[in-house]
Amino acid sequence: MTQSNGFVREIQLPQIHDPRGDLTFVEGGIQIPFQIARVYYLYNVPVDSERGGHAHRELEQIVFALSGSFRMKIDDGTTKSEYWLRDPRKGLYISKLVWREMDAFSQGTVCMVLASHRYNEADYFRNYDDFLSALGNETK
Ligand code: TYD
Repeated sequence: MTQSNGFVREIQLPQIHDPRGDLTFVEGGIQIPFQIARVYYLYNVPVDSERGGHAHRELEQIVFALSGSFRMKIDDGTTKSEYWLRDPRKGLYISKLVWREMDAFSQGTVCMVLASHRYNEADYFRNYDDFLSALGNETK
């Protein structure tokens, strides 16, 4: 059975600006379109690191650069796009069935991810052709 292409969109979080330091918050069910089942973060990332290289069958995620910056390369199986994450108030929502790769990490980057499900390796497409096949696409 073939499925619709996935998609991404930017998520803007509130900011409480304060001379003592800015504060941003996320509340389940308000700023984000799923219940948070898992939070994970990447840190100690070498600047020449390449991460991702997979899509998910069901998982939805929102990715933030809490500190530093990096590039998110997005491929829905038809169209490729790029997003630079560098503002802790702005996340990238990634639906299921989106191939993503991350690179160009700045020194000291901390990337936080909010996820709709617990970790499950069986939810991953780690092979690009398998991902395209699930969408009914041929390898290009
Ligand atoms: P992976 O999702 O491939 O990382 P990235 O997309 O950032 O490159 O995960 C890397 C490894 O960490 C892999 O062996 C699975 C494991 N892992 C967990 O055990 N739990 C988790 O919540 C995540 C995200 C990964």
